[in-house]
Amino acid sequence: MKFIAGFIVALVALAIAGFAVVYSGVVNVAARGPDSAPVAWLLTTAMQRSVARRAAAEPQPAPSTDLKLGFRFYNETCVYCHGGPGKDPVDFGKGLIPEPPYLADTVAGWTGAELYWIVKNGVRMTGMPSFADSHKDEELRAVVAFIQKLPGMTPEQYAEYEKAQ
Ligand code: HEC
Repeated sequence: MKFIAGFIVALVALAIAGFAVVYSGVVNVAARGPDSAPVAWLLTTAMQRSVARRAAAEPQPAPSTDLKLGFRFYNETCVYCHGGPGKDPVDFGKGLIPEPPYLADTVAGWTGAELYWIVKNGVRMTGMPSFADSHKDEELRAVVAFIQKLPGMTPEQYAEYEKAQ
């Protein structure tokens, strides 16, 4: 009994401490300067584990081969935050924390189903939007196919897609 009572008191004390931290305003919500290493680890790990779990639980998206459609979507939307070969992100993309990653460097670490899940659902509390309601499924699958071509793509090759539009 004593042990259980002590446990409950400890839990209540923790809850009060947690509330005090939130309510006092010490949590810095500014989108300037990097997250501290522990916070960055916590957020990145939570994001990666959440995406892996949820993408695995959903039906696999059919792979797309429509790179032209994927490019159009990428160049009209994603490039402003993520940049692309020969293209820097614009000011609002540079002003986000966490920083939108340069996808050519990171896509290989994700499966197609995970990339599709991210584009469809977005990432809460980051600048990454959900495109589920604004775009057709065909476009979501096409942009995944296009970003999977980004590693090794030269600025000239990117510009070729632009000219071919
Ligand atoms: C308004 C800015 C913004 C736009 C527009 C945007 N993104 Fe993102 N995206 C982000 C941010 C910020 C993250 C980082 C999220 C995180 O770290 O949890 C991100 C993360 C991602 C990731 C995960 C990458 C990784 O390695 O962690 C993928 C994939 C992605 N975005 C694809 C896209 C695609 C494709 C589009 C266009 C259809 C797009 N994004 C449009 C801001 C944006």
